Amino acid sequence: MSVTVQDLRAWKSEGRRFAMLTAWDYPTARLLDEAGIPVILVGDTLAENILGYSTTLPVTMDAMIHHCQAVARGARNALIVGDMPFLSYQASLEEGVHNAGRYLKEAGAHSVKFEGPLPEFAAALTRVGIPVMGHLGLTPQSVHQMGGYRVQGKTEEAALRLIDHARELEEAGVFALVLEGVPRQLAQEVTQKVSVPTIGIGAGPDCDAQVLVTSDLVGLSERRLAKFAKAYANIGTEIRRAADEYRRDVEDGEFPDDEHSYH
Ligand code: KIV
Repeated sequence: MSVTVQDLRAWKSEGRRFAMLTAWDYPTARLLDEAGIPVILVGDTLAENILGYSTTLPVTMDAMIHHCQAVARGARNALIVGDMPFLSYQASLEEGVHNAGRYLKEAGAHSVKFEGPLPEFAAALTRVGIPVMGHLGLTPQSVHQMGGYRVQGKTEEAALRLIDHARELEEAGVFALVLEGVPRQLAQEVTQKVSVPTIGIGAGPDCDAQVLVTSDLVGLSERRLAKFAKAYANIGTEIRRAADEYRRDVEDGEFPDDEHSYH
């Protein structure tokens, strides 16, 4: 690892923006790392983008650890953040600390992220030396409580509550804070009010950093992209084209003819 949580704090004070992307496997982690992405999130969106579930809720701690291990083998420089899946930390502090510790102990992550205003959990992690990133606003693990994936913090009361939660997480020791699905002005205000970097997704351009789900970035998602997400490539179309071409070659008996060697 060469990027540290201290680097991210320093970058905020220097006004240096940075990008975070998700990865769930070795080749993607290697390519993102080679592209200079400083922070790789092993996101619980694994559930939707790789495992085919319709929400992030079903993904297990064991599945997250399995994928994080592959990411850790691929990334040499990036700071790796392991996302805490639904019900791996909400039931008790003890279970949460144990599960978070698994990321560092078994999976090669350098830090963890969890959703929601749980400063006592953030404090428990920092107490035992586990760097932790917060995540406020639209928190997908609460999709049923929110009644869908809706922008949060739209009323003055909700905005003030979110600012309080951000400050509480900061005091509890988070090293960065994801702000998802909140109005631009609120994200800007939180960014000014906390000393740790804010990492926005659907939160406007004024956060200290931005995060995207890599399947959206490269055009591998099935679902329609959110307005804020930009596809920088269309790998899905390329895979379909290559598979179609290969299928036709096989059907037509077109085959590379050297059968004696692999290289
Ligand atoms: O799991 C994930 O991909 C995330 C990002 C959307 C921040 O939590």
